[in-house]
Amino acid sequence: MFDAALADAVAAVSTRLSQRLAPVEGTLGEAMRYACAGGKRLRAFLVLEGAALHGVDRAPALDVAAAIEAMHSYSLVHDDLPCMDDDDLRRGQPTVHVKWDQATGVLVGDALQALAFDLVAGADLPDARRLALLAGLARSAGGAGMVLGQVMDIAAETAATPLTLKQITRLQALKTGALFDWSATAGPVMAGADPAPLRAYARDLGLAFQIADDILDVEGCETRTGKRVGKDDAAGKATFVSLLGLDGARGEAQRLTDAACDALAPYGAAADRLREAARFVISRQA
Ligand code: IPE
Ligand code: IPE
Ligand code: MG
Ligand code: MG
Ligand code: MG
Repeated sequence: MFDAALADAVAAVSTRLSQRLAPVEGTLGEAMRYACAGGKRLRAFLVLEGAALHGVDRAPALDVAAAIEAMHSYSLVHDDLPCMDDDDLRRGQPTVHVKWDQATGVLVGDALQALAFDLVAGADLPDARRLALLAGLARSAGGAGMVLGQVMDIAAETAATPLTLKQITRLQALKTGALFDWSATAGPVMAGADPAPLRAYARDLGLAFQIADDILDVEGCETRTGKRVGKDDAAGKATFVSLLGLDGARGEAQRLTDAACDALAPYGAAADRLREAARFVISRQA
């Protein structure tokens, strides 16, 4: 059930992104299409599931789902730059700055971020809801959201004292959680419904997702994850694993997954695919 729904999200969102990226000229267009290719499309899946739960039309839901994948892809291109994580492998391919150059990496990220807003702005939705999505996306991605989390993440590499659990939780909630929050609540926002249950789900899911990412960095396999492993420890990065150990981190991810599923109670069995998504997040190998 979940596998088929995720495969559907992958296909539909990839098509929508391809349509929007096809006209972009030259090397920039080539590199933007390259940066958006692949990926699990989990954030898009959250948008589409939340939208389906609330009876939102497919066309605007797809624009919004494509938007978050453009935003997320931008964040990865910049995250991989030499001045940040300095990675040469992403989604099983050379990173954008390795395949082209650093200027291309910076500019591809800039253009993908702008495309994300453009996609939401063009979604066929009532103006007030479209505006709420746009403002929410700006806040989730920006200086009080994902970017702030990235800043804290970089700063933590050279911090004099290791971060506390509370500090790491805040860092991860911003770095990864903010875009998950926007994705999961986009459906109710598009429908003018209460986003609270999906917000609670996303908070715990986002954290569990980042813990799983940190675990994969320790014991994952490069061929499966499509990115380098062992980077966090080498960079002296504070993660749940560095603080709790592998078993502790696994236990925390499981606890958060259970809590995320519990938050879906108001939707009953209609949210079963989102529950499966939560279980997928902590059992994934990529
Ligand atoms: C990787 O995200 C970056 C993190 C926030 C941990 P994903 O694991 O969702 O990356 P893709 O889109 O599937 O490549
Ligand atoms: C990146 O986190 C989160 C972003 C905001 C892009 P990581 O640095 O842990 O992501 P990976 O492991 O490179 O995918
Ligand atoms: Mg990083
Ligand atoms: Mg990284
Ligand atoms: Mg990581």
